[in-house]
Amino acid sequence: MANNALNTFRWCSDFSVDIVELDDDHQVLFELLNHLQATIKSGEASALPMIIDDLLQYTIYHFRHEEDMMESCHYPFYENHKLVHRMLENQLKDFVKNPEFRGDINAAVWFMGFFEDWLKDHIEGMDKNYSDCVHNYEMGVKHE
Ligand SMILES: [Fe+2]
Repeated sequence: MANNALNTFRWCSDFSVDIVELDDDHQVLFELLNHLQATIKSGEASALPMIIDDLLQYTIYHFRHEEDMMESCHYPFYENHKLVHRMLENQLKDFVKNPEFRGDINAAVWFMGFFEDWLKDHIEGMDKNYSDCVHNYEMGVKHE
């Protein structure tokens, strides 16, 4: 799916946090957005809840992954970053739980745009900030 020229949501090196395993996670999130978009375009409304649930579950998995790394590297802004993750998780959970939105194409279009904006801003504005800390920590461990 990642190399499909028709995909709207493309991860590129501008979004790199310079940590391969977290870049990989971010690429999966872009792919899940493409999957959501393809389903919206196909008009297959009944498939939307499952795809949005998958996106929520992967987002939670990815946040824990990122948080574990920040915590183990003693990233000074870990608590604040974790709080921002929880706020988004709660917003997504509220959306998923709302019966009016389940299987609604218009709501899914809104959700897709909201998630895209949030993800791009978050990678640019917050995620890239932990990169040096993680690399410095890893260098220190290697030289102990
Ligand atoms: Fe993050």
